Amino acid sequence: MALAAASTINPLLSWASDAATTVPGKDGMILRSFRFLDLEMPPEYANSWITSVPHFFVRNHMHEPATLDIGTWELTVGGEVENPLTLTIADLLKFETHTVTNTLECAGNGRAFEDPHVPGIQWAKGAVGTARFSGPRLRDILRRAGVKPTGKHVMFHGLDEVPGKVPPFIRSIPLEKALDGDTLVATQMNGAALAKHHGYPARAMVPGWIGAASCKWLTEIKVLDKEFEGNFMSPGYRLPNQPIKPGDAAKPEDTHPVTALNVKSLISAPSDSSTIKSRSLNIQGVAWAGEADITKVEISTDAGATWKQADMGKDQAKYAWRLWSYRWKAPKAGDYVIMARATDSHGRVQPELAPWNPSGYLNNSIDKVKIRVNA
Ligand code: MTE
Repeated sequence: MALAAASTINPLLSWASDAATTVPGKDGMILRSFRFLDLEMPPEYANSWITSVPHFFVRNHMHEPATLDIGTWELTVGGEVENPLTLTIADLLKFETHTVTNTLECAGNGRAFEDPHVPGIQWAKGAVGTARFSGPRLRDILRRAGVKPTGKHVMFHGLDEVPGKVPPFIRSIPLEKALDGDTLVATQMNGAALAKHHGYPARAMVPGWIGAASCKWLTEIKVLDKEFEGNFMSPGYRLPNQPIKPGDAAKPEDTHPVTALNVKSLISAPSDSSTIKSRSLNIQGVAWAGEADITKVEISTDAGATWKQADMGKDQAKYAWRLWSYRWKAPKAGDYVIMARATDSHGRVQPELAPWNPSGYLNNSIDKVKIRVNA
């Protein structure tokens, strides 16, 4: 495992509630799992439209491939197609390249705040990031293979090393999303070859959907006549069809797969539990909505009693988060609860408390930070 000997506290992050860790190629990230590398971005890094690779979260269900020889790497395309393909990296690079700026979020981001507690990686706020992903459109590859009329779902399989009895990370997406002009087989992230943690040499990139749809270290694409059946499709990554009582189990037949992301916002400054030595401050952060657009972000500085609209940043793209900011003067020294609430073009508004579900998926409860103004 490519981890430095011990976790160290980065002095710049000494205010973070969780210890930062040292991983080559990564900077100041929170270690959520060591066995299979899972790294969370401290919320303070959500301060730029594009997240740098060193600050981009990592979510692995199993071991990353130990060795990966680009000279022998191949991507096969098979199943319900007229002409099965075997593509090398050189073949992939001959397809037209398309770039999508996408906010990638793990379905389990925010799971740590579920009450009652749910099992799984205890992601707090930062299993999310925005990057420019580039590569061929999946649609162009599927067209070359010629999808048969029986093709309904597209399955992705990566080169993860599957330990023992763990089921392999295989999932599928509906053909319609696979044929969307923005769904990619990405070979680049922020203008450079994908880093190993992010799926080198190629990954699926299914914009606006939960991160689990975007399979890393891709080696096989298979067109299926129905949704893939496997652990990571069911029981994994499913939500109850109706709200259930917190703590209750969901009936498997009464669930559906998690697909597009929710409307959500994150406060990047000021930091939670910080003391501010000025009464004037800039409240800022990001907001995203999967396949929808953010229409407004509102800020409360009085624990939700009143709300004011934030200014939106100028950078925008279909599947990317928006930066927002709100200049505020605290009326007097004291303790304050600051909250951010996003609304999107589908009319969705972040709830004060997101409906509980047994896996803690898509938790988009309104973000809050507590601060002390000492001036
Ligand atoms: N692809 C493979 N092959 N194996 C994995 O464990 N994790 C998925 C997805 N693709 C995963 C995978 C999940 S759950 C998420 S949230 C995203 O990758 C995270 O992408 P990142 O690590 O590049 O941030």
